[in-house]
Amino acid sequence: MKEIIKIEGRHKLNGKVKINGAKNATVALIPALVLADEQVVLQGVPDISDVKVLAEILEYLGVEVTRNGDEFIANPHHMVNKELPNALASQLRASYYFMGSLLGKYKEVKMKMPGGCYLGPRPINLHIKGFELLGANKITDYDGYHLKTEQLIGNKIYLDFASVGATINIILAATKAEGITVIENAAKEPEIIDVCNLLNKMGAKIKGAGTDEITINGVDYLHSCIHEIIPDRIEAGTYLIIAAAAGEYVLIENIIPQHLDSLTSKLKEMGVNMEILEDSIIIKESKNLKAIDITTQTYPGFATDLQQPLTALLTQAKGISKITDSIYPERFKHTLELNKMGAKVSTFMNMAIVEAPSPLNGAQVSATDLRGGAAMIVAGLLAEGITEIDNIYHIDRGYSKIDIVLEELGAKIWREIKFND
Ligand code: EPU
Repeated sequence: MKEIIKIEGRHKLNGKVKINGAKNATVALIPALVLADEQVVLQGVPDISDVKVLAEILEYLGVEVTRNGDEFIANPHHMVNKELPNALASQLRASYYFMGSLLGKYKEVKMKMPGGCYLGPRPINLHIKGFELLGANKITDYDGYHLKTEQLIGNKIYLDFASVGATINIILAATKAEGITVIENAAKEPEIIDVCNLLNKMGAKIKGAGTDEITINGVDYLHSCIHEIIPDRIEAGTYLIIAAAAGEYVLIENIIPQHLDSLTSKLKEMGVNMEILEDSIIIKESKNLKAIDITTQTYPGFATDLQQPLTALLTQAKGISKITDSIYPERFKHTLELNKMGAKVSTFMNMAIVEAPSPLNGAQVSATDLRGGAAMIVAGLLAEGITEIDNIYHIDRGYSKIDIVLEELGAKIWREIKFND
């Protein structure tokens, strides 16, 4: 028995969508809460399954969690350090942020490999290198990660690659290290600034977030605060792509347009009819789309997470589009699913070539991963007939009630329980 999403394509979308707090900020902010010595309130928390799992991990560690709408309140007064339960930690990538926060707070952490979408190999060597440079020792008695030290000491850490995860994880640990840590070649994604803003409101001393050099002056105590999460640029980008595919008039609200510059400039190049306002974007019916080339890069370059839903739209853009993923060279499993629907996408090394336009037809497809699932939704809205998407737990990990939002815009989309044949 499994839950699937079905879409009857070719219905025009009209109305507005309000974007939630950023998933990739939230999944770091929740583990960051364990560093606090007092209660902290997060606002704008998205209703996605990754948040539910992180809340369960906090509760397992003895943190009192209260959820009230989009508010998430964590009280760490009775918290204890324990090995992370693998049944929970293996459900998402971001469980690795507990490494930085527990190491920072207790100078010891024990967990197995984190989970998350398979996008090709996703090593965490840079996280571990950072922890070791802060003085953590790897204990080899355990089939996983066991890191321990008497005291973390600030250090200079150069990242070979500007990794989002390694930057945040090192910041979390260094917040409670003795002395000054400098991260060079740090990642600059907006979610990193959001994590640093929360930590600074709690009393941390972090400078340079959003640049490639971040300085953290360790502190002993982190106090109570209220923090509102930034809007999700990837959720917003997905709805922009959906609106470009099937919209007649769609207003997307609660966004920071600057965070989406790399996408909106490409959508304009394709011929998408859009109006960018202060904190919203309007997309009107867009016809005669043109092929484009994109290369994914670290922020402010084109986000790898949006490459997948954009591929689905590019199947309707006349000409040959070339997509190069320089962050995850193997992030192309969605292209096989698109081809089942009639798309003409071929892949070679870290590249996908889309020959378009190709009319899409409803088919049985799979959400190969979170953003691959978003690509299937875009394709389903474009296709003639009914598309059936399975493995939708991937989609629910990162998009809050996407089927309800689209139904309200006029899409024919619904969930069904399917019994194994
Ligand atoms: N890398 C290493 N060693 C490391 C860390 C990363 O070689 O120690 C490599 C990775 O293999 C990859 C590249 O560096 O080739 C980028 O990895 P990064 O660490 O920046 O990514 P991440 O932290 O694992 C986050 C998001 C991803 C998003 C990437 C890139 C979270 C939980 N995940 O992953 O989001 O694609 O940054 O922006 O924040 C998604 O939302 O669907 C998603 C996968």
